[in-house]
Amino acid sequence: MNVAGLAWHAILGFAKSLSDWQKMSVESRTDLEALKAIGKIVAIVLQRMMKHLAPGITTAELDRIAASALSEYGARAAPPLVYGFPGATCISVNDEAIHGIPGERVIKPGDVVKLDVTAEKDGYLADAARTVPVPPVSEAARSLAACAEVAFRNALPAARAGHRIWEIGMAVEAEVKRSGFSVIRELCGHGIGRTIHENPCVPNYADPSARGRLHEGLVITVEPIIAAGNGRPVLEKDGWTIKTADGSLAAHYEHTLVITSGAPILLTEAA
Ligand code: CO
Repeated sequence: MNVAGLAWHAILGFAKSLSDWQKMSVESRTDLEALKAIGKIVAIVLQRMMKHLAPGITTAELDRIAASALSEYGARAAPPLVYGFPGATCISVNDEAIHGIPGERVIKPGDVVKLDVTAEKDGYLADAARTVPVPPVSEAARSLAACAEVAFRNALPAARAGHRIWEIGMAVEAEVKRSGFSVIRELCGHGIGRTIHENPCVPNYADPSARGRLHEGLVITVEPIIAAGNGRPVLEKDGWTIKTADGSLAAHYEHTLVITSGAPILLTEAA
């Protein structure tokens, strides 16, 4: 893995053709309990970051809050562990979509902040993200952030055993287009469980190559990553941050879930 491994994975729609890559399936009560435990920790850490997110705080300070919450619960930040990412969490602001590096940037009123937490405990991982518009925000920013979450919710009926993976993306993109926004097609959800990025790739559009069927016990993320503009991404010079090429606002909403024959189990939804 090169230094920009995290971004590289996302940009290339990793492992699409490597069907024998690692993939996590829940095979025991132990698996499920361990995934629920790390899922809950990720939810708590996100809540704590959101509580402190306000004008004047730096993204590095938010990251330190997350890091100390993770260690409080005996969990480890996964991006530095797996990819050598220079931060415990990814914090992306405005036109930055994902993998923003925490630093001295000061949060300002009107910023659209994406908080993305991936963590590990006892060898199990979970991943979740939220978009928080910092008041006062424009109506466009508010509706973009809301759209990412609605697109996620609308995809849940497709996220069950027997459905093809592309059905998730079809539901996501339908909602995003209806709202007048764009899916950033290069960025997708993914299998997760034993490392951050596993098979399968879960695109946010009806990608015909994502024709595999979901099965009971499969652990994946569903994560609409969308933009107010045309949705084309570029990689920042820092080698990690992926932002919109046209400078438009981006939003991201993500949970880790376990596929069942009915509604999926949302591991990272707050209890
Ligand atoms: Co993810």
